[in-house]
Amino acid sequence: MHTASFSEQLSPIEWGPLLNSTFSSILAPFALRKIAIIVDENTHDHCLEFLITGFEALSEAEVIMLPAGEENKVLGVCFQVWETLTEAGFGRHDLLINLGGGMVTDLGGFVASVYKRGLAFINIPTSLLGMVDAAVGGKTGIDFAAYKNQIGTFATAHATYIDTGFLHTLPSHEWTNGFAELLKHALISDAALWEELIQIENIPLELRSETIQQGVQIKAKIVAQDPMERGLRKILNFGHTIGHALESYYLNTATPLAHGHAVAIGMLLEARLSVEQATLSKTEFQSIEKYIKQTYQLQIPNNAEGLWALMLQDKKNMNGEVRICLLAEIGNCLFDQKLTFGDFKDALAHSIS
Ligand code: GLY
Repeated sequence: MHTASFSEQLSPIEWGPLLNSTFSSILAPFALRKIAIIVDENTHDHCLEFLITGFEALSEAEVIMLPAGEENKVLGVCFQVWETLTEAGFGRHDLLINLGGGMVTDLGGFVASVYKRGLAFINIPTSLLGMVDAAVGGKTGIDFAAYKNQIGTFATAHATYIDTGFLHTLPSHEWTNGFAELLKHALISDAALWEELIQIENIPLELRSETIQQGVQIKAKIVAQDPMERGLRKILNFGHTIGHALESYYLNTATPLAHGHAVAIGMLLEARLSVEQATLSKTEFQSIEKYIKQTYQLQIPNNAEGLWALMLQDKKNMNGEVRICLLAEIGNCLFDQKLTFGDFKDALAHSIS
């Protein structure tokens, strides 16, 4: 794997093996300060030892282990982390390292961003979803009252290190989970990448490291143009208005839907709406439908009202109206598009039948 670095607004993202990266030198100023590493149960078992044995500066680090899973991305878990940081005497000049998937980097970034009004944090994503989306772009957050990322901050990571070596520990469902965000990046901004991705039948085996890097670059480039999501950045939410509603709907049920899986279904529905309400051609829609259906199981409840109630809390809404992203064509996404309940209900009915 080659190394590369590219800047996402003020936060550097470095790509390549961590051992060959600038990670050691970025830790140097913290030699006499405190460092905590946030992990979940999975990264505690599979990734932590590599980090601690690889970097002398981390040998004395405080390890904070979170329970794994989106259902734990909640305020109660933040309280536990703040308590640990407080008891261990962490000050504003100390450092937090988030080692894990989207749950760890979302919650860890949030915890750091408000602790003593802002503690430096470094993201080391260990899942495909974390690498291509969650750990990049400065959004942090936790779920609240069944709504996804209802509470959060924009907070720039001190640095983000993406080492695809961590992906070797990833179970197969986590690959399809993260792959949905790569599909999204292609659909919103890169038709050639879409054509490349839909040739992939076996996601871990056929997915090239360079393709993952391309996905990260697409996100970083969009974020750099609109870090606070005033406009353009909203396109990164394609598939997410309906996807988040689905994810929330099934959260804490016997059949939870992983984020990427929910976004894949959300993209299918929002692509269907793009044919009716924007200029996406039927041929392009069929390409999207075919690939999503062959890669993801369509778990969709026949409950338009229930999903709509969740969508009414979406962060992109304006004046009490639901606003979604639609595709003008593959590789070209529109944002702030009004959606009515009737149109949503029709798209849902089509996708269930
Ligand atoms: N996941 C969407 C964004 O970072 O803007």
